[in-house]
Amino acid sequence: MERIRWYKDMVFYQIWPRSFKDGNGDGMGDLWGVLEKLDYIKALGCDGIWFSPIYPSPGADCGYDIADYMDISPEFGGMEAFKQVLEGVHARGMKLVMDLVINHTSDEHEWFQKSRQRIAPYTDYYIWRKGEKDGKLPNNWDSNFEGKAWTWDEVRGEYYLHLFAVKQPDLNMDNPLVREEVKKILRFWLDMGVDGFREDVITYISKKDGLPNDRVFPIYKGMRHYNHGPRIHEYLAEFKRDVLDHYDCFTLAEAPLVSPKRALSYIDEHRGQMDMMIQFQCQCADCLFTDYIPLPFSLRRMKKAFTDWQYKLAGRAWNMLYLENHDHPRIISRYGSEKFWKESGKTLATALLFQQGTPFIYQGQEIGMLNWQPENPDMYEDVQTRYTYAHSSLNKPAEVRLKKMWRSSRDSARTLVQWDDSANAGFTTAVKSWFHVNPNYPRINVAQQDADPDSILNFYRKAIALRKSLPAVRHGEYREHLRLSGKHYVYSRTMPGERLLVVCSFSGKETKLPLPRGFDLSQAELLLCNYATPGTGLHPWECRVYRWQE
Ligand code: GLC
Ligand code: CA
Repeated sequence: MERIRWYKDMVFYQIWPRSFKDGNGDGMGDLWGVLEKLDYIKALGCDGIWFSPIYPSPGADCGYDIADYMDISPEFGGMEAFKQVLEGVHARGMKLVMDLVINHTSDEHEWFQKSRQRIAPYTDYYIWRKGEKDGKLPNNWDSNFEGKAWTWDEVRGEYYLHLFAVKQPDLNMDNPLVREEVKKILRFWLDMGVDGFREDVITYISKKDGLPNDRVFPIYKGMRHYNHGPRIHEYLAEFKRDVLDHYDCFTLAEAPLVSPKRALSYIDEHRGQMDMMIQFQCQCADCLFTDYIPLPFSLRRMKKAFTDWQYKLAGRAWNMLYLENHDHPRIISRYGSEKFWKESGKTLATALLFQQGTPFIYQGQEIGMLNWQPENPDMYEDVQTRYTYAHSSLNKPAEVRLKKMWRSSRDSARTLVQWDDSANAGFTTAVKSWFHVNPNYPRINVAQQDADPDSILNFYRKAIALRKSLPAVRHGEYREHLRLSGKHYVYSRTMPGERLLVVCSFSGKETKLPLPRGFDLSQAELLLCNYATPGTGLHPWECRVYRWQE
């Protein structure tokens, strides 16, 4: 029987729990806070929630270092609060997706503690290699976060592999016992009623046999030997066959630097092992290698990224659409304009929301939160930012280095959600919160925007409702127009009976309305626009959605 792919009709909201809302007044975001805000999320038009990790964790990578996969961290409210949230989500007809981080665990996970002592059956749960302390490392791979990918363990007297932080040892997925553990985890949450998983760096889980050295020069040294490794499809197929196929759930693969063509080997609806994929090209319109080397924003690069995925997945797989998440700085500060904050925030929303796929909105995006710019590098919390700051561009003045972090740090988008203009932006009643708030919160906050019909928030609400009411957004053929324009993003969505045209200006100046051939405005209905008085030309950062009906 053909699956009902319900996720295709949905819009998701991503919660990064530490900074979303503090419900018990201890300064840390939690599930009680989420409970308070379920109606807010629903009213935005979102039908689903993806939680970044909420499991017990020492927090070396803000929860992406899991110490127990089958529990909820007490600081977030434990299992009891989670069950309330799950119930509250389902009672509202919404879905809930967990973050599954199985490339690595925390070094404080019981499995690692036992593995380092060679206690069966955990001995080979991780990737251990012989060597000498301070001697030659097992290979030349780099970790993604903190220097080399190998750390010496005193207890075991061997090196362990960690593709991320030192406190995130990689699991040995070639060990069938580890795969059984993964299946247990999947069943545990599915049996409880969760509706799917976002699978963290899932394309890294199968490493090349023998862990060979990489060449000398590449950035991310080693990646060619672990991204899309030899048995990746086999393992994913096993999880699907043994567990996922038996539940009504969906899976979303996080896949750094994957082309749409390669993506099909994972998410093709007939032969894939997962349902959707988080692409990274759309994050590379103003940088190389996702944030590492900043470049001026190129609209053409952005358009190409979206369009490639729209074209190549059409009819074969389903797009996951996003502009922001917890790993990238805020989008208005990058692709939009802080000067035309409101206009560009709405235009970015429009550019995204009328494409084919399932949109994911990251907390704060719906009110146009901007990059955080701390005056002191010690204020950064993120392990990756701290390492990068301490080790790169050391020949540059401190101020230049700090500014680079403003532009590239993940913390730029991890500040507290700005609920209102009271202390700590209404995030907590505590005097001190776990993290900082962007000082612009008196100007940019939910309460203010809720009351303002012309706000970014109300624009998101309207645009999402509109997207859901238009069959062509779900079914229509996507076509990009005026591809070479460096100022406008223009695309159409066409199906029998309905045709849409989306026009977005990425210019801070007045521009001519760029109309592709065959679109006669005299027959069109203007459904959405971010200016009250659309003229014959486009205002700075103006966006419009037109419809033709036959
Ligand atoms: C993914 C997560 C990121 C995390 C990393 C390691 O990229 O999105 O936040 O740090 O994996 O788990
Ligand atoms: Ca709390």
